[in-house]
Amino acid sequence: MLKNTIALVALYATTTLAVQSLVIEGSNFVNSNTGNRYQIVGVAYQPGGEAGYKPQSGVDALSNGTVCLRDAALMQRLGVNAIRVYNVSPDINHDECASIFNAVGIYMLLDVNSPFSGESINRGDPSSSYTSSYLNRTFAVVEAFKNYPNTLLFFAGNEVINDVSSGKVIPPYMRAVTRDLKNYIAKHSKRVIPVGYSAADVRDNLLDSWNYLQCSTTGDASDPSRVDLFALNSYSWCGDANFQTSSYDRLISDFKNTSVPIFFSEYGCNKPSPRIFTEVPVLYGPLMTPVMSGGLVYEYSQEKSDYGLVTINTDGSVQLRADFDALQGQYNKLNVTALQGVKAENTSVVPPRCASNLITTDFYNNFTIPSLPSRAQELIDNGIKTSNSGKLVPVTTTKVTLGVQSSSGAPMDLSITVLADDQSNTPSGQTPVTSPTGTTPSSSPTPTKKSGASNVKVASCALLGVGFLAAVLL
Ligand SMILES: *[C@@H]1O[C@H](CO)[C@@H](O)[C@H](O)[C@H]1NC(C)=O
Ligand SMILES: *[C@@H]1O[C@H](CO)[C@@H](O)[C@H](O)[C@H]1NC(C)=O
Ligand SMILES: *[C@@H]1O[C@H](CO)[C@@H](O)[C@H](O)[C@H]1NC(C)=O
Ligand SMILES: *[C@@H]1O[C@H](CO)[C@@H](O)[C@H](O)[C@H]1NC(C)=O
Ligand SMILES: *[C@@H]1O[C@H](CO)[C@@H](O)[C@H](O)[C@H]1NC(C)=O
Ligand SMILES: *[C@@H]1O[C@H](CO)[C@@H](O)[C@H](O)[C@H]1NC(C)=O
Repeated sequence: MLKNTIALVALYATTTLAVQSLVIEGSNFVNSNTGNRYQIVGVAYQPGGEAGYKPQSGVDALSNGTVCLRDAALMQRLGVNAIRVYNVSPDINHDECASIFNAVGIYMLLDVNSPFSGESINRGDPSSSYTSSYLNRTFAVVEAFKNYPNTLLFFAGNEVINDVSSGKVIPPYMRAVTRDLKNYIAKHSKRVIPVGYSAADVRDNLLDSWNYLQCSTTGDASDPSRVDLFALNSYSWCGDANFQTSSYDRLISDFKNTSVPIFFSEYGCNKPSPRIFTEVPVLYGPLMTPVMSGGLVYEYSQEKSDYGLVTINTDGSVQLRADFDALQGQYNKLNVTALQGVKAENTSVVPPRCASNLITTDFYNNFTIPSLPSRAQELIDNGIKTSNSGKLVPVTTTKVTLGVQSSSGAPMDLSITVLADDQSNTPSGQTPVTSPTGTTPSSSPTPTKKSGASNVKVASCALLGVGFLAAVLL
C-alpha cells in the first residue's frame, strides 16, 4: 500500500498525460520513446459532413468538448487510435477536443484545406489559387495544432489530382504546398510534424502520383518538397472480397519499395450494407503490414453519403449502427501486440531521384515547382500573426452527458478512460451491447490488453484529481 502511495504521488506530480508524439523512420510511424511501430487504426471524423463545417458560427469537428467527449468515448470503446478531420478553422479554439482525444490515446490527422474559396488549391485554376493568403491560412492551421502531442500529420491536399487531366497540371502545386508547410514547420514548430498527400484511387496515375511526390531532387530525404507520407482513399474491397479480388495484392506489389509510410486515408466500401469489414484482418495482417501502416474507416457519422458507424441525432444523442458493431468485432480479433507492441524494423529506402523518366503515363513530369507567391517568404521567415496557438488543457470531465444508444436501442452509460503517458488506444475487447432491455454492461473500456495496465489506472487517478485518488487508495 505504501509503495502504491508513493508511486501515485510521484506520478501525480510529474505526469503530463500525453501520447508520445510519433516520428517517421523509413516507411514506418514509430513511437520514439518505445521504438515500437505504430499502425493507424482510424476513422474519418466529420460530424455533419462537409456542411458541419461552420467556422462563421465557431463550429468545426473539434470545437465542442461535450460532443468530442461523447465521440472519444465511443471511439475508445471501438478501439481506434486516430481520427482524420477534413476541415478545421484556424480561428477556433480546439484545446478541449484535442486534449480529450489525447487523453484517450487518439492521434489527429488534419487536412490544412477547406471547401471555402481561397482555402484550397483550385484544381481548375491552380496558379491563381496558390497565393500568400492561401498559405497564410494553411500556416494558421499549423499554428493551431502544432503544440498538441497527438497531432500526427498534416495533409497538404486531398484528391486534388482526381483524374488524368488534373494529373497534367496539379502535381507541382502539391509539391510546392508540401515544401511551404514543411519549411514553416521546421522554423516554427518545436517538433517535426509530417506533411503528406491523400490520393484518390485513380489507377491511371496512382503510381505516378506516388513517385512524383515521394521522389527527391537532392537524392536524399532532405528535399522539403518531398512528401513525408503518401495516403490513399481506397474503396476497392466490397463485401466479402479477398486480397486478390480487391486488388489489394496489386497495391502491395506496387508500393513494396516505398520510401515513405503508406496507408489508407479512407477505406470501407459501403456495399453491401451493413458492412462486414472483412478487409480489417487483411489490412492488419501479414500480407499488408510489411508495406502499409493501417488506415482510417470512412466514416464515423452517418451522413448523406451513407458510410456511418453511428447516427447523430439533432438533440446531440447518438445511436450506434450495425456497421459499428461489425467493425468493433473485427478490431477485437486483431493481435494488439503485433499491431503496436513490436519494435519497428529498419525500413529505410533511399527515395527515387526526381527525373522525368520516373513518370510512366501522361502525367506532369517536370520537377521545377512553382516558387513562393510574393510576400509568402515573410510569412515563413517571421511566422504568421495569430493568437490561436492551441495547447493541451486538463481533461476534468470523463462522463459522457449526451445520450448514447446501442444499435439495438439499449442506453449506454459511457465515460472515457484516460490512458497513461505514451499509450495509444487499442481495441477494447468489449462486445457490442445487444440487449435492449437488460442491464447495461459497464461500458468504459478497460485497457487490460496493454502492458503496464496498473499504470493506466494510476494515471487516470491523477487526472481525476485528489478526491478520486483518495477513494482508490481506500
Ligand atoms: C493569417 O491568418 C490569421 C489566422 O487565421 C489571421 O488572423 C490573419 O489575419 C491572416 N493574415 C493575412 C495576411 O491573411
Ligand atoms: C455542444 O453540442 C451540444 C450537443 O449538440 C449542444 O447541446 C451544446 O450547446 C454545444 N455547446 C456549445 C458551446 O455550442
Ligand atoms: C501476436 O503477435 C505477437 C507479435 O508478432 C506474436 O508474438 C504472438 O504470437 C501473436 N499472438 C497470437 C495469438 O497470434
Ligand atoms: C537502415 O537501412 C538503411 C538502408 O538499408 C541503412 O543505410 C541504415 O544504416 C540503416 N539504419 C539503421 C539504424 O540500421
Ligand atoms: C526499388 O527502388 C530502387 C531505388 O529507387 C530501384 O532501383 C528498384 O528498382 C526498385 N525496385 C522495385 C521492385 O521497384
Ligand atoms: C520545366 O518547367 C520549368 C518552369 O515551368 C521550365 O522553365 C522548364 O523549361 C521545364 N523543363 C522542361 C524540360 O520542360
